[in-house]
Amino acid sequence: MRACETILIVDDDRFVRMALGEALRSWNYETVEAQNVAEALKLFEEEDPTISLLDIDLPDGSGLDVLNEIKEKNPDAIAVMITGSIDVPNAVAALRGGAYDFIGKPVKLEELRITLRNAIETKTLRREIKRTRMERSRGFSFSEIIGESAALRQSIELARRVAASDVLSILLHGETGTGKDLFAKAIHYASERANAPYLAINCAALPATLIESELFGYEKGAFTDAKQRKEGLFEQAQGGTIFLDEIGELELSLQAKLLRVLEENCFRRVGGLKDIPLDVRIIAASNKDLKKSSEVGNFRLDLYFRLSVIQIDIPPLRDRGEDVILLTQHYIDRANQKRRGQTLKGLSPEVARAFRNYRWTGNVRELRNVIERASILEDGDEVSMMHLPADLAGGNFHIDGAASSGIVLPTTGIALETVENELAKQAMNRTGGNLTQAAKLLDISRDQLRYKLKKSGDYGSATADKS
Ligand SMILES: Nc1ncnc2c1ncn2[C@@H]1O[C@H](COP(=O)(O)OP(=O)(O)OP(=O)(O)O)[C@@H](O)[C@H]1O
Ligand SMILES: [Mg+2]
Repeated sequence: MRACETILIVDDDRFVRMALGEALRSWNYETVEAQNVAEALKLFEEEDPTISLLDIDLPDGSGLDVLNEIKEKNPDAIAVMITGSIDVPNAVAALRGGAYDFIGKPVKLEELRITLRNAIETKTLRREIKRTRMERSRGFSFSEIIGESAALRQSIELARRVAASDVLSILLHGETGTGKDLFAKAIHYASERANAPYLAINCAALPATLIESELFGYEKGAFTDAKQRKEGLFEQAQGGTIFLDEIGELELSLQAKLLRVLEENCFRRVGGLKDIPLDVRIIAASNKDLKKSSEVGNFRLDLYFRLSVIQIDIPPLRDRGEDVILLTQHYIDRANQKRRGQTLKGLSPEVARAFRNYRWTGNVRELRNVIERASILEDGDEVSMMHLPADLAGGNFHIDGAASSGIVLPTTGIALETVENELAKQAMNRTGGNLTQAAKLLDISRDQLRYKLKKSGDYGSATADKS
């Protein structure tokens, strides 16, 4: 995908420029030529060359000045000095200025060829290092995705391979909170596109007309408010990745336009007549089954087929076995870091059992929230049943048996005392802290309730006795 490398040749001697240019082009480089300092700087700005070949003696200054200027503009710029007489002070100055290498005149072409090859390799490596560093510092790499289960590993493996490929459209499918955002970013930052933009848009968040102009941009006068031309996300993301979240919510007319973009790799601004070639990878995400949506006419079947060529299914948390515990530990570590002095160690055995059996309909996001909440409430060193949301502590397990009473014993079992405490708390909340009324709801005496609340540590801390 990388375009041809461009080499800037700076020399006041027309014949040298011609000879070098010819050689470089025969090695498949693109060339631009300047004959003095001013032109060199201008072309450097405009062309962003991979390498600059700089003669030292120029009519309006020195190649060393060019070197300094371009290094200031871009410290990663690579310059090779070409000089008739290698004199020591110049050499020292050039090396201090960050020149990559020296070549003496007359230029030996074989030497030049090797120098350029090495320089490009250096530049590629630097780029690679920078990208890896950036990826790590931003925390968007695959290594940030926690989980060892076969189900998740399979998705990650596929995503990694797709990231490294030249596939231009990808569909991420998974329930809410399974990590679609996380996967999309990891794919972008693991791809060759990492240094180009990653832009995201949520198709459910904006009305169709706005999404269209956001994505495609528009020409001046395309509609009443279009006072001047605007670049859309497609244009801004050139070379990079666009994340279309909740693609299932995209309006049908826009689905047709998107399909055209995917099939022809080009697009038109709203109100525009010109096709603009597009080099953007599109990652679409949905928590819906788009095939089903297409059966009822909410999603274009042809777009579904196009997108699902590469579909990555992210498994729900309840199908990831022990990942629940790994993730828990991760969020506990994070909570401990956030609140210095806190040393939560893990889950009580009872809670661990509940975690393994819970449905986790909100997946990793729900787990994160549960741990965050518990870590605030918990004083002990284990997360206990008492500080879990009612859903988790009480029921909603994926193997549940309905009982005639409507009360369901969790498959993992639960301490009777926990149930009593929880219900006592709920009664107090429901009655706005009125002890008499709360006791009535529970069919016990005021004193019994007060005793219970005191014992569980909830009396007084929750609500004052208003009765
Ligand atoms: N395997 C994982 N390891 C670590 N963190 C994860 C993992 N999966 C999800 N998360 C975290 O869980 C939260 C929810 O993930 P994310 O936003 O990617 O889900 P989503 O699938 O995009 O959800 P939605 O459909 O609601 O948009 C984020 O904070 C994310 O960092
Ligand atoms: Mg999301």
